[in-house]
Amino acid sequence: MSALQTERLLLRAWRPFDLAPWAAMNADPEVRRHFPEVLTREQSEAAVARFQTGLDERGWGWWAVEVRATGEFIGLTGLDPVEEDMPFTGVEAGWRLTRAAWGHGYATEAAEAALAFGFTTLGLPEILAVTTATNLRSQAVMRRLGMARDPADDFDDPGVPDGPLRRCMVYRISGEAQRAKKQRT
Ligand SMILES: CC(C)(COP(=O)(O)OP(=O)(O)OC[C@H]1O[C@@H](n2cnc3c(N)ncnc32)[C@H](O)[C@@H]1OP(=O)(O)O)[C@@H](O)C(=O)NCCC(=O)NCCS
Repeated sequence: MSALQTERLLLRAWRPFDLAPWAAMNADPEVRRHFPEVLTREQSEAAVARFQTGLDERGWGWWAVEVRATGEFIGLTGLDPVEEDMPFTGVEAGWRLTRAAWGHGYATEAAEAALAFGFTTLGLPEILAVTTATNLRSQAVMRRLGMARDPADDFDDPGVPDGPLRRCMVYRISGEAQRAKKQRT
């Protein structure tokens, strides 16, 4: 599986030309507001190498997102197995866009395609999403996707130092709930 297409977006493999805008968005404190730090160019490059290896090995993972009408790279969206140090298991969905691409519905549109892929092609029973309690924009994406939060799942991220970014929330959606939502819309 090399790419997913939506009305306005392409979720695809990473290309060398993505590196500069990807590194620039990871150096933007606003984009990284809910992460412990901004990333250096080297860290951004290493992340892309990991993402592409994941896509090559599994056929799914963190895709680069491009606006079909312009070919512009705007960030990433995808699915990934939850890291081992988390207090739960499963497959999570995630999204990060460059600031100019916020406010267009792109994150929700890309994530809808990733969820549909996870449920239909991978046959996952459930997909979850994790964010800091501070990240209201990301939580809004989760709710637009039809995901729901149980406050009992809230947890402190063991990889994050004490502070406002440590508290995290988990949103979940089942394949059944996503199919029902699609039928309603
Ligand atoms: C989290 C993030 C991806 C959310 O982006 P976003 O643009 O707010 O979310 P969406 O793509 O769903 O867009 C929704 C907005 O687009 C608007 N919109 C405009 N045109 C639209 C259209 N054609 N269709 C749908 N929505 C549209 C909606 O009204 C909504 O606006 P609002 O935020 O004023 O209510 C973005 O803030 C981001 O990249 N943040 C930094 C990285 C990050 O924190 N990632 C998450 C880590 S858990």
